[in-house]
Amino acid sequence: MKSDSELGQEWVALAPRWIKKVREDGDPVRNGLLDSVMLDACGNVEGMSILDCGCGEGRFCRMLVERGAKYVLGLDLCELMIEAALELKSERDDYRVQDVQDLSFIESETFDLVVSYLNQCDLPRFEANNREVFRVLKRGGRFIVANVHPMRSASGKWYRNADGDKLHVMLDNYFDEGERHWEMLGVKFTNFHRSLSTYINNFIETGFVLKRIIEPTVTMEQLNVYPELEDELRVPNFIVYILQKP
Ligand SMILES: C[S@@+](CC[C@H](N)C(=O)[O-])C[C@H]1O[C@@H](n2cnc3c(N)ncnc32)[C@H](O)[C@@H]1O
Repeated sequence: MKSDSELGQEWVALAPRWIKKVREDGDPVRNGLLDSVMLDACGNVEGMSILDCGCGEGRFCRMLVERGAKYVLGLDLCELMIEAALELKSERDDYRVQDVQDLSFIESETFDLVVSYLNQCDLPRFEANNREVFRVLKRGGRFIVANVHPMRSASGKWYRNADGDKLHVMLDNYFDEGERHWEMLGVKFTNFHRSLSTYINNFIETGFVLKRIIEPTVTMEQLNVYPELEDELRVPNFIVYILQKP
């Protein structure tokens, strides 16, 4: 089991390459698939106070500011990500180095909306993040969580034929929750796999009402622009939960 400091070091190693990729080439999964789903799920954000858990270099915070949010606070454990986010900040967004499993520096019922854009898969204690987000949300406020789909985080591999063609995705070790080890942009890093019922039951036990689940896929128009998203037609790589504090 990796320690918190080992997990943090992985993001220190990844951050320079991640920031360069997102800012120079763009990430097709975000640009071509998830951004539109996340923005739709957030709805009209004009005048809202919003918290982004695991904001990275701040791209989604800036998108929320552009759409009229009154204030967006981005939190990330990785100092390099927060430094990069601060470089592009306006007077309506701010950033802080912070573990999102502990939001004790924020008063209860502060935010109208909280987002978690591909961050809960990085957390060894996602239940703590849920509990804290529930506390800092105003009544009626929503928590929008995008995550790696549990069908994909379990094993994550394609079964290929001798020519290397993708035949089907392997689903294995689904009930064996815990660490999974991957490589992204040439850097090894850790994610946490949990079953669908573990996620949903914890949202409900925390007090959230589950309003909607979205399993994003691509349209032909999106595929024309981002042909690398072909897998998204075949398997659910991601899942978005729309949660509300009653
Ligand atoms: C896949 S990136 C997503 C960044 C951003 N949400 C986006 O979509 O561009 C995950 C981010 O979570 C951050 N992270 C990982 N563990 C964290 C923790 N315990 N608390 C806060 N941030 C964390 C990482 O540093 C990284 O920036």
